[in-house]
Amino acid sequence: MNLKEYVSEVQDWPKKGVSFKDITTIMDDGEAYGYATDQIVEFAKEKEVDIVVGPEARGFIIGCPVAYSMGIGFAPVRKAGKLPREVIEYEYDLEYGSNTLTMHKDAIKPGQRVLITDDLLATGGTIVATIKLVEALGGIVAGIAFLIELDYLGGRNLLEGYETVSLISYDA
Ligand code: PRP
Ligand code: MG
Repeated sequence: MNLKEYVSEVQDWPKKGVSFKDITTIMDDGEAYGYATDQIVEFAKEKEVDIVVGPEARGFIIGCPVAYSMGIGFAPVRKAGKLPREVIEYEYDLEYGSNTLTMHKDAIKPGQRVLITDDLLATGGTIVATIKLVEALGGIVAGIAFLIELDYLGGRNLLEGYETVSLISYDA
């Protein structure tokens, strides 16, 4: 199955010059969504993963069916102010301003092996913040899986030393 055919490319959205990769047309097709999930499960299978972690919101869409399929749990990374119990925080820079991501302190036990998922690797800011949170809690990042990677933004350079897979890539 060629998953790229199921991505809708929307030109000049959310602003001029951007070609937005809309994954809702993968999700609303049961076969394509299932296939993408199975491919990530296949990648994760030999990695003895204990738990899946993904950043809101689209990291949930990718990670939750993978966790269910593997029979393991899912722990959310959320924007500041969304998680009700004690959290750790990681702040990172955006093009304009900054963003803070959080996780519950007890979401991961030290030594647990973690699969991180997100829909898209662009500059890598979101995924690096997610890695920092997992590692601060003593988790071991056993693998990182994306549905889509934008090669030309170079996010992959920040992930050296981690086992990473992207099911779809764009080089321009
Ligand atoms: C998008 C996307 C990735 C991130 C990739 O999330 O879902 O998480 O950007 O960009 P980066 O590699 O440059 O960090 P967004 O923050 O738009 O929010 P959403 O997932 O809640 O839609
Ligand atoms: Mg996101």
